[in-house]
Amino acid sequence: MKIAALVGSNRKDSYNKKLVEYMKEKYAGKLDIDILPIDELPFYNQDKEMDPPAIVEDLRRRIKNSDGILFATPEYNASISGMLKNAIDWFSRVDLVMVNKPAMIVGASMGAMGTVKAQMQLRQILNAPGVGTLTLPGNEVFVGSVQNKMDEQGNLTDEQTVQFIDNVVDNYVQWINRVEA
Ligand code: FNR
Repeated sequence: MKIAALVGSNRKDSYNKKLVEYMKEKYAGKLDIDILPIDELPFYNQDKEMDPPAIVEDLRRRIKNSDGILFATPEYNASISGMLKNAIDWFSRVDLVMVNKPAMIVGASMGAMGTVKAQMQLRQILNAPGVGTLTLPGNEVFVGSVQNKMDEQGNLTDEQTVQFIDNVVDNYVQWINRVEA
């Protein structure tokens, strides 16, 4: 299954980026994860949406050709990052490439709550008419205190977290099959 991944942090050592890279490797047999370079997108501009920069066209096409979308969000000031919102805004217009795509959300932070507030807002955003993803219900992946659960190479070392994400990925695969049926 081809999955387009949107990671909301452009930091070199981003935990969220490491988490998605870890998932790309670990679940390669189930999910073929394509990490989209949303950090290369310009600021959304409605004047340009009908004739957008090439990067917008390229990423829209990659989402269109995917079976689902994985969102990995940091928490910035009790919300998602501007970069992630910017990407969602671009992809919510003209082609509506995200509508009816099965989506899964993960988020990592050093705080105990692990992006709870950001994910609550992200679910609301994903429910907007132009976005319209079919987001996996009942599975919330909050990787709090991530600095204690990941090694230098970005491997998750906390067995409970690994097992939990294994389970959610299985639920996500079932969800995609159900949505596509
Ligand atoms: C943060 N951080 C943060 N953490 C949190 O739990 N709640 C919050 O509201 C915020 N707000 C916030 C704002 C800004 C501007 C920054 C830069 C950071 C901390 C943040 O979660 C932490 O830096 C994560 O490590 C960011 O994710 P990445 O870059 O590691 O993926």
